[in-house]
Amino acid sequence: GLAMDPELQRKLRADPKLIAEASEEMLRRYTFTVPMRIVRKEVDLAGAKMMPGESVKLFLPAADLDASEFPQPDTYDLNRENNVHIAFGVGPHRCLGSHLARVEIQVLYEEMLAHLPEFRLDPDNPAVFHGGHVIGIERLNLVWDV
Ligand code: HEM
Repeated sequence: GLAMDPELQRKLRADPKLIAEASEEMLRRYTFTVPMRIVRKEVDLAGAKMMPGESVKLFLPAADLDASEFPQPDTYDLNRENNVHIAFGVGPHRCLGSHLARVEIQVLYEEMLAHLPEFRLDPDNPAVFHGGHVIGIERLNLVWDV
């Protein structure tokens, strides 16, 4: 997100207090967690029939791009109100490490913005992702001018 948005980098460098809010919107816009569940009872959810023993993926990235919850969901919006995303899940298994994770993300952004000049994605070496329970980045090549 940051590497694609020089304007956002400028804003956060000028006012690092915005980084906490910016990280929350990153978590929403680019939610990457897909927890699994095993079906216990036969259930019909909006026409999708699920049988006991089947595994289902809770595709949280789609929930956090739900237009009925987040107007213009594809837009990264630093001023979004009521940004109640579920990147950390919901319910009894909600992420135990969410507070630590939030601090880690904020420190990462703070340090990157403090030490790197304006950076962008390397057009010659596109990022490589993998799917699964966690949509992960295998390679993220950044470039900047020196
Ligand atoms: C941005 C980083 C992270 C994200 C987006 C994230 C997301 C999630 C999600 C969606 C779940 C729910 C899984 C489910 O419903 O089955 C979860 C569970 C969990 N997370 Fe995280 N997580 C992050 C970082 C961390 C860190 C840093 C730790 C530990 C230091 C951690 C520890 C846990 C644990 C222990 C659970 C299991 C809780 C349970 O099943 O009761 N997570 N996480």
